Amino acid sequence: MRTLQDLVLKDSTIALRCDFNVPLNAQGEITDDLRITAALPTINALREAGARVVILAHLGRPKGTVVAELSLAPIAQRLSELLGTHVAFSRDPAGDTSVINNLKTGEVALLENVRFDPRETSKDPAQRVQLASVWADWADGFVSDGFGVVHREQASVTDLAQLVPNAAGLLVSRECEVFGRLLEGAERPYTVILGGSKVGDKLGVIDSLLPRVDNLLIGGGMAYTFLLAMGYEIGNSISEPDFVDDVQGFMTQALERGVNLMLPVDFVVADRFSPDAETQIVDREAIPAGQMGLDIGPETRELYSRVIAGSATIVWNGPMGVFEMEPFAGGTLAIAQAMAASEGFTVIGGGDSAAAVRILDVDYKKLNHISTGGGASLEFLEGKKLPGLTVLEGK
Ligand code: 3PG
Repeated sequence: MRTLQDLVLKDSTIALRCDFNVPLNAQGEITDDLRITAALPTINALREAGARVVILAHLGRPKGTVVAELSLAPIAQRLSELLGTHVAFSRDPAGDTSVINNLKTGEVALLENVRFDPRETSKDPAQRVQLASVWADWADGFVSDGFGVVHREQASVTDLAQLVPNAAGLLVSRECEVFGRLLEGAERPYTVILGGSKVGDKLGVIDSLLPRVDNLLIGGGMAYTFLLAMGYEIGNSISEPDFVDDVQGFMTQALERGVNLMLPVDFVVADRFSPDAETQIVDREAIPAGQMGLDIGPETRELYSRVIAGSATIVWNGPMGVFEMEPFAGGTLAIAQAMAASEGFTVIGGGDSAAAVRILDVDYKKLNHISTGGGASLEFLEGKKLPGLTVLEGK
């Protein structure tokens, strides 16, 4: 994979793909700017090398139409504050030439949400290439630094890369190095913690990681499908009965391979999905009818934290409970704190778990890596070829 050193940067106009798909609240304010701050080292490296930097990014899924709430204008504002310099904004996702031609060495511009243009996400390669060619008209080089989108085949991810000299940015390089190490060469004992609501989303990751790890700790909504497979009553807890066979297969495989696959031994249950619901702590054999499990219980937190403390590599993807509601945040918080206290190499897969460690009371700076990729980091761990990375390896 080429790096920034492989591109001519001085006096060049560089198209830089970032992932600025950040969470917004109801007022349209940015609630977590991890993905913006993570892009700063590459932006600054390009500026310092004497490039003019034009950033391509998306927000949400506007499906090829202009959706005012998904404009990148507020991102340009936040980026200006973080960089301490003006960021020009092009209302045209294809790049307003007056904005681009006026850029001077070391200056930065951000284009409007590239997904406002239907060609960005088109399934027709010719359409995507047409849009990428408009960018290639002014771009001397392409730097891919939006790790969160490298699993997508889209004009600003894969097509532009094939029209001008390309390289990976510092963020993409670092994410690849970390996730590469998790697939090959992780120090043992190696522990993976998986949570989140849907086991169906994690089948590929479990399949890929089971042969590589020593401990696999399960939490979150996906745990109840495992409990179903073991024949427990799960009350009103969420589950995916269609995947019971897959889950049973994983449990058998873990036994055969000597992998310590752990399931929660207790839960916080409630009569309804609400922050002011009545809660109780119950053993997994005793989830009452009519109650739903919404977090792992205290004994499970203790058991999992002990495994984390004894591990040399720990990867975590997916919350242990409904951490957005205070009564069900304790399990996720306990795991986050155990990871922050660990002396091992700690990695938070992107998405909800990355948001959780930044929202909850955790010293997240002690973690070795918080990924900016949600789906991308999962697909990486599944061992899939990601088109946005493959394209950086080609000629
Ligand atoms: C993400 O949030 O995971 C990335 O920005 C990709 O977004 P997408 O799933 O809409 O392609």
